Amino acid sequence: MAEAKSGQIVNVMKESRLFPPPPEFAAKARIGSMEAYEKLYKEAADDPEAFWGKLAKELHWFKPFEKVLDWQEPFANWFVGGQTNVSYNCLDAHLGTPRQNKAALIWEGEPGDSRVYTYQMLHREVCKFANVLKGLGVKKGDVVAVYMPMVPELAIAMLACARIGAIHSVVFGGFSAEAIADRNNDASAKLQITADAGWRRGKQIPLKVNVDEALAKSPTVKKCIVLKRIGCAVNMQEGRDFWWHELMAKASADCPAEPMDSEDPLFILYTSGSTGKPKGVKHTTAGYNLFVKKTTEWVFDIRDEDVYWCTADIGWVTGHSYIVYGPLSAGATSLMYEGAPNAPDEGRFWEIIEKYRVNIFYTAPTAIRAFIKWGDHWVDAHDLSSLRLLGTVGEGINPEAWMWYHRKIGGERCPIVDTWWQTETGGIMMTPLPGAIPTKPGSCCKPLPGIIPEVVGEDGKPVEPGNGGWLVITKPWPAMIRGIWGDDERFKIQYYSDVPGKYLCGDNARCDEDGYYWIMGRIDDVLNVSGHRLSTIEIESALVSHPAVAEAASVGRPHDLKGEAVAVFVTLTNGFEAGEALRKELKGHVRKEIGALAVPDDIHFTAALPKTRSGKIMRRLLRDIAAGRETVGDTTTIEDYSVLARLRQDED
Ligand code: PRX
Repeated sequence: MAEAKSGQIVNVMKESRLFPPPPEFAAKARIGSMEAYEKLYKEAADDPEAFWGKLAKELHWFKPFEKVLDWQEPFANWFVGGQTNVSYNCLDAHLGTPRQNKAALIWEGEPGDSRVYTYQMLHREVCKFANVLKGLGVKKGDVVAVYMPMVPELAIAMLACARIGAIHSVVFGGFSAEAIADRNNDASAKLQITADAGWRRGKQIPLKVNVDEALAKSPTVKKCIVLKRIGCAVNMQEGRDFWWHELMAKASADCPAEPMDSEDPLFILYTSGSTGKPKGVKHTTAGYNLFVKKTTEWVFDIRDEDVYWCTADIGWVTGHSYIVYGPLSAGATSLMYEGAPNAPDEGRFWEIIEKYRVNIFYTAPTAIRAFIKWGDHWVDAHDLSSLRLLGTVGEGINPEAWMWYHRKIGGERCPIVDTWWQTETGGIMMTPLPGAIPTKPGSCCKPLPGIIPEVVGEDGKPVEPGNGGWLVITKPWPAMIRGIWGDDERFKIQYYSDVPGKYLCGDNARCDEDGYYWIMGRIDDVLNVSGHRLSTIEIESALVSHPAVAEAASVGRPHDLKGEAVAVFVTLTNGFEAGEALRKELKGHVRKEIGALAVPDDIHFTAALPKTRSGKIMRRLLRDIAAGRETVGDTTTIEDYSVLARLRQDED
């Protein structure tokens, strides 16, 4: 264990397994060895502007850029003077090439319906919808709000906005009316796009009903386009609401892409910060486009013949960057699934992989833990031999869950890319490149070329290798956040003030002796127990490595003597009994895995954990429950309100 210095985080997680890239994978990979990675990394670090400037030539430019970067901290201007269009790079660029008639999007609906769009077909739909938007008065620079199920029309709507220079603000289909209205008002959205309803676990999610309620409180939104997904009855307000299919029937398929300045905004995406008010993260055109294209190619090593499936919802940044913009600008085939992983049963994902012969599968650790809990027989019933690469995103993966993913899903032959990044970073920042970097389970391994991270103490100075601290990014990168919509001051304070000159991402991390990064949770998830700072994820990993534990969340609660006591919430694998005996066993297990300082003071057994719609555990709520306080703050993102009620009942 590393020695703790004042203000630093004690690292207690030991993980020594190393998984080198499979030689057959490396032989074909774009970046196929550690030497190749190091060479590229050095080239980028020595002269980042020359590096990105050279790569940017891969985009289509209506007007070439004059300067690669103009950095006025904290505001970056990339590819100054250039004009391009993201929709052009995703669609038009592939027309007239052998990709023209390849599948761009393969879509599987929850009830089992499916559709395929080739690049040519998608281009046509996007052009038509772009003309629909223009016909309703949408102009370059207008904000278009999107609240839709996971259907191809969601991607079409985004690409159509990009085509005419409108800025989309996609709000995840699970948010409430209140949340939509807040975001619409913050962004001054002009037009709303939605659907009658969406499918989720066989239930109809009443999207239009929520939009009606939201629009009553969104005075800037004057028009609303409604897609008929389900065919249920909806209220259509005369003069405001229009059916998607009626407008499309009359739209022309001729709509040249608008030349956009490199720094024209592409989209706003709201994310939670440390306060209750969501921030509108702003991303712009050329830098974002280049970064998601290159990271898709490097990290997923996508081939023209691959079927690639990212299971995220497009309502989150993962879907923006790695279902739509990255894969399409790389000319890939991107699979989109509408529904839940357990609809109609827990084998749905494996059935989809078998049906479409998926080669690359990118999902979230929270999903992997659910798969483990549901049992191996769901996996065993399907042929997953088409898979060649696996990925994870959104949170750290517990080494034991990693091992299950590796063995059970990857058949021990697929590399796993644990990708660390954020809404703010726009694209993947750190990951083991699958053909080059040996993996340590639980580590997001190494930074991508052009990304220069550092771990610093609260004084802003780098800490010794092996010690924890704040993760910062020392140099601007093309897809970095360009601002918080309408709040430059908050942007500066949040990301560029505690450590001057460097981007403060809000995560704790440590870099080990081999230069591998280990994310240790959010800065505000750090516990301070008897003067020792502990990361929540380490305690959770220890618990999940016990066979009885399916999922665990640890939080601090006030404690008279220790400052903070460790409270954990655990859900159990089927077949295990909650009770005093197991409580004792788990405490002993954590003591064994980490040490006495991490032994939980309280263990709460619960049927489920409260989560945001993207699957993140809502620790703020758990902290309140652990401390016996009432829950406060914005709870609009909770996956299932009943979980909270059950947690209280489960207290014994
Ligand atoms: O704490 C990190 C965690 O998720 C945060 C970013 O969340 P969001 O903006 O919603 O974007 C999620 C999808 C990119 C980070 O600050 N996180 C994300 N990926 C990882 C991770 N933590 C550990 N390992 C990861 N691979």
